[in-house]
Amino acid sequence: MVRSGPLRGCVRVPGDKSIAHRALLMAASAEGVSCIEGLPASDDVLATASAIESLGARVRVAGFPSFKEFRRRLGLDAPGIDGNAGSRRSVPLFSFDVLVEGWGAFGPRTPVGPIDCGNSGTTARLLMGILAPWPVEALVTGDDSLRRRPMGRVADPLFAMGASIAPSERAAGKGDASKVALPLLFKGSPNLKGIAWDSPVSSAQVKSAVILAGSQALGTTSFSEPSPSRDHTERMLPLFGVEVRTVEGRLVVEGLRRLRAANVSVPGDPSSAAFPVAAAVLSEGSRVRVEGAGLNPGRVAYLDVLGRMGARVAARASGDGSPEPVGTIEAAFTPSLAPVETPPELSASIIDEVPVLALVASRASGDSVFRSVAELRNKESDRLEGIVDLLALLGATAYAVGDDLVVEGCGGWRASEVRSFDPRGDHRLAMAALAAQAAGAPISVADTECIKVSYPGFLIDMERLIS
Ligand code: S3P
Repeated sequence: MVRSGPLRGCVRVPGDKSIAHRALLMAASAEGVSCIEGLPASDDVLATASAIESLGARVRVAGFPSFKEFRRRLGLDAPGIDGNAGSRRSVPLFSFDVLVEGWGAFGPRTPVGPIDCGNSGTTARLLMGILAPWPVEALVTGDDSLRRRPMGRVADPLFAMGASIAPSERAAGKGDASKVALPLLFKGSPNLKGIAWDSPVSSAQVKSAVILAGSQALGTTSFSEPSPSRDHTERMLPLFGVEVRTVEGRLVVEGLRRLRAANVSVPGDPSSAAFPVAAAVLSEGSRVRVEGAGLNPGRVAYLDVLGRMGARVAARASGDGSPEPVGTIEAAFTPSLAPVETPPELSASIIDEVPVLALVASRASGDSVFRSVAELRNKESDRLEGIVDLLALLGATAYAVGDDLVVEGCGGWRASEVRSFDPRGDHRLAMAALAAQAAGAPISVADTECIKVSYPGFLIDMERLIS
């Protein structure tokens, strides 16, 4: 739990989860030793690090004698943990640096046991693209939430390329892509062929899986999606020596490429920054600065949305010419906020921030509409339902109309007695509720454990900004 604001001062949020997963997976696939700095010690990223290690990449964590010892010190190997790595964390560790020696042309090895992706959709879906081209057997699984999430959107293009993935649930679904779910058994398919894939969903996870698999397949692979999703994979692959072109709106990669080791410095996660930023906008007397934050335009569209609501937010790039822009985000209390309407083509760029944007919108003077955000139902929980419930506890009204989310702004929250919110094991819902709490809302959060999948030091950072 956090006290109520004002929030004042400066914070560095943990490394960007999306960039961290990609850096680890590309380093594992590369020839040679890559150095990755500033990885967040979040459960999702630890799941990816453990996955590549079990597939044969050599992972050395700075300050630890071995990867095994690193896992032991974090409590990742404690008995009784079922798909929720790190729940018995024995040392506070929020960031780590690694050297990764990749498997390169040898490919990954068959792991000893199942690969547990925990709660992390990005680990599972990108790993599917990494594994598909190689002759290895691997069972990929995850926690209860991840096993409910749709995997057909990734399995379908991989099937079309010739991947051999045991369709444990697909048979039951009779080809219905929405029924493909973890656990999935990869049986080894070394003759993958490039494809031209038009994804029906805008998803950086699908795009990345197809492009990563395509880079190891025979021939050319191209990919399109209805509207742009985050572009970290296409920015990072060239660092590892693989060219990704854009031709007539499609991403194109040639197959049978060798990745070469590279060095990556992971910027702060702009999606994690969204929570202290929103809390500052909503809490009287606040002024917060987030330093070292990633400012990739596909990730900070939420700042434009807040700006359109009249919120006092600003981003300033410090730019060192690396593929991912980095800089400072500032946010200050804004007494009156205007409602906003976000168009369908923006939804993929703000999808992770809709919970906290909806929270801010509930304090605007008028109704806001977030168009085409049905994807929220497929996240770590049904976030659309979670947002509606959270705002109801605050005395505000929100509802879904088709694929859109409507938030009735009422200027202030009307709730007076403290009510308990259940974040359904979803880190972003929990942090949105805690941002409301920091802004004085009479709300308690039933579970804050789930926050460590992306931002393990969140409560400490918020306390520091509030004191
Ligand atoms: C992510 C892509 C998004 C996002 C998720 C991380 C990524 O998911 O919601 O938190 O790193 O590629 P989708 O690709 O399913 O939209």
